[in-house]
Amino acid sequence: CGIVGYVSSLSPDAAGHSALDVVLAGLRRLEYRGYDSAGVALVSEDGELASAKKSGKLQNLLDEIEAHPLPEAMTGIGHTRWATHGGPTDANAHPHLADGGKLGLIHNGIIENFAELKEALLADGVAFASETDTEVAAHQVAKNYRATGDLTEAMRLTAGQLEGAFTLLAVHADEPGKVVASRRNSPLVIGLGEDENFLGSDVAAFIDYTRRAVEIGQDEIVTITPDEVAIIDADGNPVQGTPFEVDWDPATAEKGGFASFMDKEIHDQPQAVADTLLGRFDLEGRLTLDDMRIDESLLKSIDKIVVIACGTAAYAGQVARYAIEHWCRIPTEVELAHEFRYRDPVVNEKTLIVAISQSGETMDTLMAVRHAREQGAKVIAICNTYGSSIPRESDAVLYTHAGPEIAVASTKAFLSQIVACYLLGLYLAQLRGNKYRDEIETVIRELQEIPAKIQRLLDEDKQQVVDLAAKYKDTQSVLFLGRHVGYPVAMEGALKLKELAYIHAEGFAAGELKHGPIALIDEGQMVFIIVPSKNGRDSLHAKVVSNIQEVRARGANTIVIAEEGDEEVRQYASEVIFVPQTATLLAPLLATVPLQVFAMELATDKGLDVDQPRNLAKSVTVE
Ligand code: G6P
Repeated sequence: CGIVGYVSSLSPDAAGHSALDVVLAGLRRLEYRGYDSAGVALVSEDGELASAKKSGKLQNLLDEIEAHPLPEAMTGIGHTRWATHGGPTDANAHPHLADGGKLGLIHNGIIENFAELKEALLADGVAFASETDTEVAAHQVAKNYRATGDLTEAMRLTAGQLEGAFTLLAVHADEPGKVVASRRNSPLVIGLGEDENFLGSDVAAFIDYTRRAVEIGQDEIVTITPDEVAIIDADGNPVQGTPFEVDWDPATAEKGGFASFMDKEIHDQPQAVADTLLGRFDLEGRLTLDDMRIDESLLKSIDKIVVIACGTAAYAGQVARYAIEHWCRIPTEVELAHEFRYRDPVVNEKTLIVAISQSGETMDTLMAVRHAREQGAKVIAICNTYGSSIPRESDAVLYTHAGPEIAVASTKAFLSQIVACYLLGLYLAQLRGNKYRDEIETVIRELQEIPAKIQRLLDEDKQQVVDLAAKYKDTQSVLFLGRHVGYPVAMEGALKLKELAYIHAEGFAAGELKHGPIALIDEGQMVFIIVPSKNGRDSLHAKVVSNIQEVRARGANTIVIAEEGDEEVRQYASEVIFVPQTATLLAPLLATVPLQVFAMELATDKGLDVDQPRNLAKSVTVE
């Protein structure tokens, strides 16, 4: 998850630091990104490559280097890894070596066509030392290096042969004083020094040494030497990077420039959604969930789905129910894991349990998984943490690729869980013969557009929500109303506010309003209403619009979240937050974002710690 590269022409004494010092300091600065193993590769001036890597925290790597010191060098790369393909072991940690140990390579991202490339490399007689997709890239660069004798050209050719998302950095013993990199849909920036240059996943990697940085465009190849930075495009033409100055104070460097991990993770959401979708469709647009490893005949035979989870993950499950029942016509229930476990539920061999958990360690969910399996049910885990307990104890697993989530209150994991649920629903529909072929094709197309739409929402609407939070900073109670998939969004909006701002907040099904909650409405009561798309669901839209009027007539301040173009709602709202249009069932991926920002900003305005709210834990390992 973190990448650092460094070259210098100075002696360590003159520079006051060695490549190892710089790379390790960079990895420390990038720790905020989360990781489960770390490693470095150094190339000495006389052309010797040495490396060290260890699973676990950076301290394990430091202990390893202390026990087996590395030769002095002024060229180096360093990596912290968050496992995706292959568990967090020493062997799977980066760097990966190739070309008889002369080439070292580190990688962030997911290489989608690694299986096919690996087959060709195996046929060439290459032996592999790990299960990672990264090692395939290392051998591919080595193969191209043998053919061209030039590390930059080898990297350019390799980038053209890879599918997926990646930042790659390589060093070679035969080219000391040089680090070569490429990027596609994965971050990388250059840091400019005097007689030394840097690369990093973000500027935090080199903030202790320089504030002069250069952005690198999509599909560009960078070569850094001590006195030169050269960028080329995919065709080998020279390009100019975009220079900028870093104006952070060192404290924010730990959070990648954001005020809090939560803020960072909210802004990670376009990437988290894109990464969770990555590699799951073939060229014909058919879903391929091969990584889930489950028997298709089993999925064809199930007659009921029960989604179990806790907290935010359970709201992702609620969204899943609307989607799966509609697309697949399989009865689907959603239940809090701790309630499911202790009520003697009816489950058997024909029941598919979907256990959703960011951490994979929530004891309530784990116990429910065990109980369901004892009754003969099959369990698919939807999880963000590779190799954690829930996926290990399940029959199959669909990983969300949100990256590590550090703030206690879940944000990007929630959106990724919803995406994974859609993928599962669409896959089941595809497998069992789908009734809504056209609608499903539209949904698949719309899903691909979601990351850009979340980005637009963050770029264009955030300030409005920040101002709104400041205005309502002293409010004591907030209600959230929604129907259909807007209902779990309402509950998630309320949960975020409870967790972060410690104020009373409640999410209701808008239709239930008249059966009780409406008695709470009083002059000045703040009410968020999530309005569904008009698109094909006029009746639902009209019902929610009536609900806005009902609360407004009783004095509520109505904050409406509606689709762009829905001008009709303006007249009933104290304020409207417009979100981009999308398919009805996908709307939670957009409507949730302003509610996350609202809770975070309101809590910040109250002076509260949004990353570690009182009384809460990120991973609750007790029942
Ligand atoms: C805790 C966290 C919540 C989270 C819930 C489920 O209560 O504070 O933010 O939604 O656990 O966590 P999981 O890791 O299973 O998704």
